[in-house]
Amino acid sequence: MIISSVPELNKRKEAHLIVFPFWKGVKKAKPAAHLGAFEDKIKGPIAANDFSGAEAEMALLYTQGEKEKRSLLLGLGNEEGVAPDKLRSIYAAVARFCLKKELTTINIVLPNIAQLRGIQVEEALKAIAEGLLLSNYRWTLSSEKASNLLSSITFIGVLPKLMEGVRSCELIAEGVYLARDLINGNADDVTPAFLAKTAEEISKRYPAVEVTVFDRKQIAQEGLGLLQAVSRASFHEPVMIFASYKGAPRSKDHTILIGKGITFDSGGLNLKGTGMMETMRDDMSGAATVLATIQTLAALGKKCNVTAVIPSTENAIGSLSYKPGDVYRSYSGKSVEIGNTDAEGRLILADAISYAEKNLKPTRIIDIATLTGSVVIALGDSMAGMISNNDLLADQLIDAGIKTAEPLWRLPLFLPYRELLNSDIADIKSTGGRPAGSILAALFLHEFVGKTPWAHLDIAGTAFLAKERGYWPKNGVGFGVRLLIQFLSTI
Ligand code: BES
Ligand code: MN
Ligand code: ZN
Repeated sequence: MIISSVPELNKRKEAHLIVFPFWKGVKKAKPAAHLGAFEDKIKGPIAANDFSGAEAEMALLYTQGEKEKRSLLLGLGNEEGVAPDKLRSIYAAVARFCLKKELTTINIVLPNIAQLRGIQVEEALKAIAEGLLLSNYRWTLSSEKASNLLSSITFIGVLPKLMEGVRSCELIAEGVYLARDLINGNADDVTPAFLAKTAEEISKRYPAVEVTVFDRKQIAQEGLGLLQAVSRASFHEPVMIFASYKGAPRSKDHTILIGKGITFDSGGLNLKGTGMMETMRDDMSGAATVLATIQTLAALGKKCNVTAVIPSTENAIGSLSYKPGDVYRSYSGKSVEIGNTDAEGRLILADAISYAEKNLKPTRIIDIATLTGSVVIALGDSMAGMISNNDLLADQLIDAGIKTAEPLWRLPLFLPYRELLNSDIADIKSTGGRPAGSILAALFLHEFVGKTPWAHLDIAGTAFLAKERGYWPKNGVGFGVRLLIQFLSTI
């Protein structure tokens, strides 16, 4: 992808398409930028009242004697209502339009920023770039040719110094693509070993990232008994991955990001039914998110210290499967009675949390996981659930999610429900019935957190979409990467 800028219209290069922004006017659409020699050439749709400038409205024209064969009139909606996420969505629609028409090079005339009330030029430009880039993604294993992605974007009316922000958007988008690719890939390809290899590749590319991987033997030796139990029937070898980014060597501040890395969730002996299992290659979305976050932090050279911890295995069914009703010893020493082998995520996260707290000196722990079907019922596929033992951390995460339009909704860590997890034969039971399922999962995790500020993000609904929505594609979304980068940029 080549992303460039020119300060004015007549300095631009050839492209397949040029895009002109318009506000929705009282009667007619109003240009949101200087149109130069195009003013006359593109007025047809407006004069004919065929184009009002409504949000993401488009009119395509064929223009003679210009550097582009095509001009696109693009509606930005009401001038007063303009906001970064609207720009993101509108320009995402432009990228989708180009993908459909196989237009791979575009010139984008920047909306007149003086009119963008309350939004800084740089912020608007970044939102536009982000919308274009986040939509410029396709995943397919079909043997038919995949449609051509955009290969060149030129912003018109932008001074070079503003392009730094665009460059960071590009690195962030690459992170999001990495997460999506990992989520979308076959479970037979994106195995625990593959996740470990991906971490090692990131560390080769970025010297500030160090990677350690425990194999099955080390998982057992270290006493990560719950990860060991879940992985028993997995043909693919389990791993525990540590990917550490040191961007602030002199600071003791250390964020731990734990990502659930179940590369396929069959449910185990409590086997999932037909209709519930088909998307379960996405059960490593948390792992994908934290790996992508480490890569992006390193690419951006952010001044923070972050370690991704990824417990990864398949939750498989077989003669070696761990068993409902049996009791297994966790890394923390607490014994856990298995209520249902399909509640595997909380087990591997519990071991990762106590291991990180004991050995990695965390300032805060954030886990991100496709953890419960209940969160899908509660919040749907547009917002993720969040549960935390710390109000400041919770608020900071919610704020980050508002900025990146990856909404989090805080659910309570309601301690009275803890007794639903009581076991007669062990320190705790892994499940406690269907009501308040997401809260119970978090209460289980909470049992393995000491005094460290901790937040749990349940992305079971947002990680993977059945239908594309704006710049959130069908299938793997990469939800949380931008949110975590935003959060880590502000702490
Ligand atoms: N990976 C699933 C949760 C999930 C459901 C993710 C739907 C994405 C979409 C998790 O391991 C699971 O199976 N949870 C069970 C827990 C139950 C047995 C207590 C659930 O939510 O049904
Ligand atoms: Mn499960
Ligand atoms: Zn799962």
